[in-house]
Amino acid sequence: MLLQISSIVTYAKNVTVDYIDLDFTLWLTWMLTPLIITFLLPLIIVLLLYLSVLILYIYKLHRHRLRHAYETDFWDGARKTVAAVWDAHGWIWHGYEVSGMENIPDDTPALIVYYHGAIPIDLYYFISKSILFKNRLIHTVADRFLFKIPGWLIISEAMKVIPGTVQICSNILKQNNLLAISPGGVYEAQFGDAYYRLMWKKRLGFAKVALDAKVPVIPIFTQNLREAFCSVSFGRRLWLKLYTITRFPIVPIYGGFPVKLRTHVGKPIPYNGSLTPEQLQIKVAQALEELIEEHQRIPGSIMRALVERVYALPKKKSK
Ligand SMILES: *[C@@H]1O[C@H](CO)[C@@H](O)[C@H](O)[C@H]1NC(C)=O
Repeated sequence: MLLQISSIVTYAKNVTVDYIDLDFTLWLTWMLTPLIITFLLPLIIVLLLYLSVLILYIYKLHRHRLRHAYETDFWDGARKTVAAVWDAHGWIWHGYEVSGMENIPDDTPALIVYYHGAIPIDLYYFISKSILFKNRLIHTVADRFLFKIPGWLIISEAMKVIPGTVQICSNILKQNNLLAISPGGVYEAQFGDAYYRLMWKKRLGFAKVALDAKVPVIPIFTQNLREAFCSVSFGRRLWLKLYTITRFPIVPIYGGFPVKLRTHVGKPIPYNGSLTPEQLQIKVAQALEELIEEHQRIPGSIMRALVERVYALPKKKSK
């Protein structure tokens, strides 16, 4: 009898402990799910990047059989395949659209200047659209740290991504290509926020490139970009210090929210040889700020951007 009671007590205790444990685990999971989701979603982009790497490697391996089909540039088929993957992702996840694509020339060179989000996914989608629908590749300039990441080399080879100097960039344009540069670069990516301020410091390289190659500059801006992926805003001083030392973008990124993304292509700023690089930089910055002013509700809000995904909110009232 005593034995029975003690075993019942033990049983009850075990059940209680199990129950509490289970409950606690459930509670913990419930608490952490949003956190896990927001920090894991950026991984989808990494996954897509590696899917692209895979496609490119397969393609490179089989290029001998494909070469006769694409005699000028054997990458063309691979690029279109990869572009199709990204275009599909942009369409499904963000309802991605471009307005003003007609401002991108069909067969003349131009320098495209863009605002840099925490992750420049808008540029991946935009380049894909250009490859698929305009049959034009957009060369890009990327930060040097990217070239140290495994898999990046083949992407840069196929998609013509370069760690550009003024001379190299200018030559690409002189060969009648499109080239995209973000003057704010990785700095703007990490330290920009929902206020969408340009963080170009004193960078003039892009203006020197445009003047040297005698090409027009086209500003582009993607609405809600900062709401798709965000860089954490706490500990800014520490991140800045670490970035200055390492030159490696270490600010944590979260997000991947399926907000509406729409890239607005501005009117080309024609080449004018009597402008200095400083004057051109100011002109381009103004044009880009006008695009932001016109199309972005400031400060950006993730909720609003999510609503825009399914329901077209009225455009921001002008002052
Ligand atoms: C070129 O820039 C100069 C200096 O700002 C200006 O006076 C001139 O009107 C511009 N030319 C054109 C064609 O816009």
